[in-house]
Amino acid sequence: MTNDPASYDAWYETARGHWIGEAEFRLLSRLLRPQPDESVLDVGCGSGYFARRFAQLVNGGNVTGLDADHAMLAFARTRDSQSHYIEGDAQALPFPDRTFDCVVSIAALCFVENEQRALAEILRVSRSRFAVAWLDRTSLLYRHKGQDGGTGGYRGARWHTAREIRHLFTGMPIWNLKLTSAIFLPNGNFMARAMETLLPDRLLLGSLLVASGRISPDNHAS
Ligand SMILES: C[S@@+](CC[C@H](N)C(=O)[O-])C[C@H]1O[C@@H](n2cnc3c(N)ncnc32)[C@H](O)[C@@H]1O
Repeated sequence: MTNDPASYDAWYETARGHWIGEAEFRLLSRLLRPQPDESVLDVGCGSGYFARRFAQLVNGGNVTGLDADHAMLAFARTRDSQSHYIEGDAQALPFPDRTFDCVVSIAALCFVENEQRALAEILRVSRSRFAVAWLDRTSLLYRHKGQDGGTGGYRGARWHTAREIRHLFTGMPIWNLKLTSAIFLPNGNFMARAMETLLPDRLLLGSLLVASGRISPDNHAS
């Protein structure tokens, strides 16, 4: 992926990037429904686009973004002085069990070496809900940008099927696992925007594949 945080973030201000960011945020916020007094952690927050968006839904200071990239975090802080941006590894989150009401992670675990460990960490630090978004190998976006190691920002990413995502959750302390997706036609043209509103998010063919659910009440009971 690009190493320049400002260029990365500026993509969300292009016509296509804005449409994609909005559609993805709409889906994630509908799945998580964070309340104003709740806390949100964004794992692999990058330049902070989604952390900033979630910060508009909850009271100031209740959002934390974590990333392994120092430069991304430095940029995120310049755009959002209320949220907390912390450097760390998704595979060993520097928080006690059940710290956050909601934990979200968008297109980040696909770059993490041991994504199952990172997923276990996300569930460990959540006390209520989670939404983790991966890239879908059955999507049109994969055909255009994901094959042969991927191009541009997708270089080196792992792309999954819905079945593989379900498998990652085997034995994890969760309930109500739900898979949804967004960005069915990734070019963002008029037809893409119309189709996005018509197709159900349960049709698992979009570029972004989101696994969401709740933490089992007896998790971390020991
Ligand atoms: C494609 S970017 C996604 C950024 C942001 N979630 C978004 O959707 O705009 C992937 C991010 O994952 C971060 N990342 C990769 N490996 C990580 C790790 N082990 N721990 C924390 N963050 C990691 C990268 O630094 C990068 O910022």
